[in-house]
Amino acid sequence: MEEVLNDLKEWLRIPSVSSDPEAAGEVRRAAEFTAMLFRKAGLENVHLIEGEGFPLVSGDWLHAPGKPTLLCYGHYDVQPADPIELWRTPPFEPTVIGDNLYARGAADDKGLALILIHAVQRFLKSGEALPVNVRFLYEGEEESGGEHVSSYVRAHPEAVACDAALICDTEMFAPELPTICVGLRGIVYAELSVETGEVDLHSGVYGGGVPNAMEAAARIVTALKDDEGRIRIAEFDEGVIPPTQAEMRSWAALPFDEIAYQKEEARVFALHGEPGYGLFERLWSRPTIEIHGIGGGFTGEGAKTVIPCVATVKLSCRLAPGQDPVRIGRLLSDAIESVAPVGVRTTLKILGSAAASVVDPENPFVREAAEAMREVFGQQTVFTRSGGSIPIVGLFNEVLGVPSVMTGFGLPDDNLHAPNEKVYLPNVYRGIEAIARYWVRLGERTVKQ
Ligand code: BES
Ligand code: MN
Ligand code: MN
Repeated sequence: MEEVLNDLKEWLRIPSVSSDPEAAGEVRRAAEFTAMLFRKAGLENVHLIEGEGFPLVSGDWLHAPGKPTLLCYGHYDVQPADPIELWRTPPFEPTVIGDNLYARGAADDKGLALILIHAVQRFLKSGEALPVNVRFLYEGEEESGGEHVSSYVRAHPEAVACDAALICDTEMFAPELPTICVGLRGIVYAELSVETGEVDLHSGVYGGGVPNAMEAAARIVTALKDDEGRIRIAEFDEGVIPPTQAEMRSWAALPFDEIAYQKEEARVFALHGEPGYGLFERLWSRPTIEIHGIGGGFTGEGAKTVIPCVATVKLSCRLAPGQDPVRIGRLLSDAIESVAPVGVRTTLKILGSAAASVVDPENPFVREAAEAMREVFGQQTVFTRSGGSIPIVGLFNEVLGVPSVMTGFGLPDDNLHAPNEKVYLPNVYRGIEAIARYWVRLGERTVKQ
């Protein structure tokens, strides 16, 4: 346990913020550190795979002939720490308070990605063989929409050949409740530029006679949804695959208190969402459009009477299973053009996209993981989806034809992407135990050669 904690702290001290060009050196340092962790665990053929963007870190152990091969995936990059003033402890000085370890990346994903590495170490360092074959592939661009890992998997499917992927980058539904995530939403992330002319204008001299880019941006984004939260883009929903009745019933049976969710987890004044759908459908199986920020115009001290000529909007759609990211990008762009006021030019740039993915909970790789987790946590494992996205999961299914087993050990209050991110340390240790037991169970199965 002490070694696990020390490894995690040292990894977390590296500010590997992949979206920040200034941090490029640190992201590389994190890649090297990841490789060191792989080697220390006893993995073989450990090396960095260079390409566009940040390196992939790969390693393997393939000495269990006739046994399943798992592709262990994780990411060593993290989200930016800001707003930094809201952290109670410095984001890159990992701090233990009680059972929690606070730092950026503690749960997303270093603390969970370390579970798989130490599960290997546990077998190999005591001279035991692994009960299964493993290939490790960790990336450094998950949080910034980088293409390196997907182009690598497409170009070298033989290098990642496996029977299933194994990923620790999701959450448990509730503390103490072992959870396997069997569905993720996809995403289309875009930047919209709204222009009305070449220069800002005096709002007295020109106001009333010319359009305003900030106002146009506001009109455009509010036109994309109605007041109740329905997306108002024709054909947007076409092809969406709804959850099965059985899956909906299993969601209804989850232990859940909607008031506590609103007040203590989401901490919003009221819940809001698409009419006709329950909360889990809204979060897990329905598409969304969210505005992340609108920039432009004047928001400084005091007053400035200006008509801004440009505004920028960052927005994204989460995709349900069945929605094609390319088609959604096109529909979004067409919709924006059609609602843009007269005299307004819009340009939509897609910054990244990925399809949704669903996993069959009856799959034997999922079932064995659920049993191993039940043994360690002492409770029946539940199957949930998550509204978040892990872009590579869809590709593992599409290119390799394998299921992804998502055994997340994060908690709903881990503050992913937010200030005061933390990981609940007992879950890291129990996670290692659960993964080790999972591999022992899988090792009792033989795969067809
Ligand atoms: N690990 C998260 C996704 C996640 C969080 C899944 C919680 C399930 C439960 C991942 O690192 C993430 O944040 N993904 C981004 C992807 C985007 C940047 C392309 C996301 O979902 O916003
Ligand atoms: Mn993650
Ligand atoms: Mn993330």
